[in-house]
Amino acid sequence: MTTSPDRLRIAVQKSGRLSEASLGLLRRAGLAFRASRDHLFLYGENLPIDVLLVRDDDIPGLLVEGSCELGIVGRNVLVEQRLAGGGSAAPEELLPLGFGGCRLSIAIPQSGPVAQASDLDGLRIATSYPALLADWLAREGLAAEVVVLNGSVEIAPRLGKAEAICDLVSSGVTLAANQLRELVPVFHSEAVLALSPLEQTAAKAAQIERLRSRIAGALSGDGARLIMLQAPRTALSEIRRLLPSRDQPSVLSLDGRPDDIAVQALCSSALDWQHLEELKRLGAHGLMVLNVERMLA
Ligand code: PRP
Ligand code: ZN
Repeated sequence: MTTSPDRLRIAVQKSGRLSEASLGLLRRAGLAFRASRDHLFLYGENLPIDVLLVRDDDIPGLLVEGSCELGIVGRNVLVEQRLAGGGSAAPEELLPLGFGGCRLSIAIPQSGPVAQASDLDGLRIATSYPALLADWLAREGLAAEVVVLNGSVEIAPRLGKAEAICDLVSSGVTLAANQLRELVPVFHSEAVLALSPLEQTAAKAAQIERLRSRIAGALSGDGARLIMLQAPRTALSEIRRLLPSRDQPSVLSLDGRPDDIAVQALCSSALDWQHLEELKRLGAHGLMVLNVERMLA
């Protein structure tokens, strides 16, 4: 698969924990797509950026061979590839994305002899992340056997293939459904924007930076609120104290009302009702809290 010289290609998980949030983020960054008939390719309608829908574990390989310039993937997949690659070119993490939080953990049957990490010595641990697991075992000074499986790791103990597993845990539903319990986390992960290690043309590098900055902008808008109110000028310092602002709020004069001001403040979180009531007690009125859709630094 060769990439077009003037279109960027970004690889996204086809169906799984990261799929929906990944596409949602790209849409919030201003991209609009039209799906191909087989739903494996999303054509960028308003920007020269297309999406390839693939298995998450294939994303590092696509970046290394240059089939895609960018990917949205769990940091665990990237680091596994880097550790397993033994120093060969590996994709770079451009930006953490703040969703898809999970941990790679060792889990054991709920009713079994293993009670603590040191009990793993001499046992078999099934995983799709052999390099991350081997790295952790070495750091802990444990000698367990790593059994590599490429799917359905959680059923390995029941099949008698291993005494423990090392797999991703997010909600914990998969472990519970398989009568397993988490013993110890090995690696903490979240979704990241990853970049191909291949050199890009100046034009593509500029497009990549533009998309990175748009995604960062969409992320920084997450949870941000614009708070607007009017109040007596005398209450200003008290109001400032109550606002969880990122920066100093803007204070505006009101035409024909010299004793009043209007205040606008950008806050990194919502104001709870108690805060709003306190502001009201200080004489604030016309209080409004608006969601901020996007910001450009
Ligand atoms: C991981 C892992 C479990 C599931 C755990 O799969 O293999 O199946 O997520 O999540 P839970 O604790 O919320 O139940 P992943 O998203 O990597 O998909 P894949 O294994 O199919 O690549
Ligand atoms: Zn996976």
